[in-house]
Amino acid sequence: MKIFNSKEDISKVIEGVKTQNKSVGFVPTMGALHNGHLSLVRKALNENATVVVSVFVNPTQFDKKEDLEKYPRTLKRDINLLKTLSENNIIIYVPSINDIYEGNIKALKFDFDGLENEMEGEFRPGHFDGVGTVVKRLFEIVKPDNAYFGEKDFQQLQIIKKLVEKFLMPIDVIGCKIYREKSGLALSSRNERLKPEHKKAAPEIFNILKAVKEKFGEQSTKKVIEWVVKEFAKQKLLELEYFMIADVKTLKKIKRKSNKKTYRAFIAVYASDIRLIDNIALN
Ligand code: PAJ
Repeated sequence: MKIFNSKEDISKVIEGVKTQNKSVGFVPTMGALHNGHLSLVRKALNENATVVVSVFVNPTQFDKKEDLEKYPRTLKRDINLLKTLSENNIIIYVPSINDIYEGNIKALKFDFDGLENEMEGEFRPGHFDGVGTVVKRLFEIVKPDNAYFGEKDFQQLQIIKKLVEKFLMPIDVIGCKIYREKSGLALSSRNERLKPEHKKAAPEIFNILKAVKEKFGEQSTKKVIEWVVKEFAKQKLLELEYFMIADVKTLKKIKRKSNKKTYRAFIAVYASDIRLIDNIALN
């Protein structure tokens, strides 16, 4: 298992792979790896000769200092998990803050054609500038042919596709299905911080999304939204932050249903102080 901390070292190895005309897949992560992350790495290994996995807790994408400090850091465990997938075809990149930011820990400002202002962008100001900054930097260093992102963070996936388009980067951005527990709860590094009673309540988020999918075919959007708000009012341990149905291309809230458009429902919920997000394809 090759592990690198500096961009110079990893660049050399990647150049070597590229001169053999072999494809490089890339899975950027913030570590605290779970089966959701591993499902991305598995897909990348199936589709590329070499897969780079980065582990970097990016300071500029956290809107709350406390969240950044509390973010789990489990590098040894992460490395062991990756080893179970492949000893030879994975390269791990664990840069220092300086390797990425070169002394200037600041986010660039991006225009993602408005995608950055919806949903998570509205509730976590500056978040997508931070994500755009680090992913652009990582793409410049790793120069992957294919990059893998989870639909769990669907808005992030769409924003990265836009980033690649705007900066004319020759990278295929590939969306990967949401990996869930048997209970339906989408895997997230934050789940580990849930208290048992919240862990028990959290699968209700996906149950409600599944019901939304059923209702969406028959009822008006307004009715569906009202139903969701009512359902969450009944939940003692879950607090709804937002629920919306949006066009997957623009991420703008639906005005009138159209057969030509593809929609998804998006949700953010607090379980005590832990914020959980999820989404589901509707048509
Ligand atoms: P992180 O939260 O570590 O997630 C890394 C990747 O794993 C993202 O593409 C995310 O969508 C995906 N992922 C997480 N949980 C998943 C699940 N249950 N099913 C499928 N995919 C899942 O997202 C980030 O890190 C950062 O913003 C990053 C892109 C690394 C930039 O710092």
